[in-house]
Amino acid sequence: MAERRPAGAGGRATVVVRGGTVIDETGERRADVLISDGTVTAVGPDLDIPAKATVLDAGGCLVVPGLVDLHTHLRQPGGEEAETVETASRAAALGGYTAVLAMPNTNPTIDSAAVAREVLQLGETALCQVAVAGAITVGRAGQCLAPMGELAALGVRLFTDDGTGVQDAGVMRRALEYARGLGVTLGQHCEDATLAAGGHMHEGAWSSRLGVPGVPAAAEELMVARDIMLARLTGGRVHFLHLSTAGSVALVAGAKAEGLDVTAEVAPHHLSLTDGELSGYDAVFKVNPPLRTECDVAALRAGCAAGTIDAVATDHAPHPPEQKEGPLDVAAPGMLGLETALAVTLEALCAAAGDEKGKGAMSLHDVMALLSWRPARIAGLDVGHGGDQGGPIGVDGPANLCVIDPSERWEVDPDHLASRSRNTPWAGRMLTGRVRHTVYRGEPVVIDAEAQR
Ligand code: DOR
Repeated sequence: MAERRPAGAGGRATVVVRGGTVIDETGERRADVLISDGTVTAVGPDLDIPAKATVLDAGGCLVVPGLVDLHTHLRQPGGEEAETVETASRAAALGGYTAVLAMPNTNPTIDSAAVAREVLQLGETALCQVAVAGAITVGRAGQCLAPMGELAALGVRLFTDDGTGVQDAGVMRRALEYARGLGVTLGQHCEDATLAAGGHMHEGAWSSRLGVPGVPAAAEELMVARDIMLARLTGGRVHFLHLSTAGSVALVAGAKAEGLDVTAEVAPHHLSLTDGELSGYDAVFKVNPPLRTECDVAALRAGCAAGTIDAVATDHAPHPPEQKEGPLDVAAPGMLGLETALAVTLEALCAAAGDEKGKGAMSLHDVMALLSWRPARIAGLDVGHGGDQGGPIGVDGPANLCVIDPSERWEVDPDHLASRSRNTPWAGRMLTGRVRHTVYRGEPVVIDAEAQR
């Protein structure tokens, strides 16, 4: 439990994270962490505790750099009935995140400096850093390039039409050429629209049995293969969003072996759930790309362990009940992720050791890399790019931290989530691993699993 002593305003408090195991890119050690004025001022065993410090108990816990989510649908502007920057950032903080990258499929689209500025401004009072991804094309319509230079000048480092892929190879080629010149990354939602058309779940044995039109794995893999070729042609940097198939992992492994500038992420639900979840036609399990097969899950886990997959990203996609409670063919795709991602990922990648899919068994350090410092680097939010995310946890370093109890078991209760929406596929399930405290820029925004504002 935390000893609650008065904290200063706006992260100016003195905070001690006491008795935990610090894990960051540099390794693992038992240490307390002292934070003053928003900066880490001491790291070491048994630190003296200043009289006015807020003490956060980390006994039995891991102390890691705050998690960084490369893929968050904040829904603001335009979708405030589902989520707002404020509610999503509270969910993020409770999930251990100190930074999220806002997807641009809002209404209006984040395809201009004015809309990007609006979201960045909303993020200024949020419980975590809110970085913005810009659209690749105007209105995400796939035709005219968005003003990428103008957006890059505001600090936008990643561009994507997420929700759809850029279908036209010529447009994608031009976008990559501009992106290269600007030093920014293009994130691709890999889905060939002609192959995916009319599908509501993975095309396979389950879709046949259920009589539901499916989306074949090839719809994703075709665009992964095409964009690898375009990365080769242009020298541009491509980040593959929410990969879901074994074939995609193999394609990215090949591209990396060749030395191309590509990175990839996977979502926690694709590491843990299969298309069989749709056997009851429950649209809470409808997501895009769809839940795939056990072979795909095993390949994604193995891809994480092998370093082919660079990051776990939530694809947090809130939807109001009326968009999720209808039949499968009309329900919106997407599921919540921010508050459950850590536990689901730990269970999929660490606790899987020894089971039949145990190829994915990884150390805590390597799983934290997927959740914190590697995504921080992809988003350009790390210290190397002038940011303060992803650690390392050291003197004069950033005070963005997450304290995790890896053995706490808890039940997911949709009515107790901070998100404004309820569409979690984990409702009623027991998960292991929970965020105890989150410190954002020196301010304890979550203490004992409770948001402080
Ligand atoms: O399931 C999804 N939902 N996949 C996407 O790519 C978009 C997202 C959304 O915005 O709801």
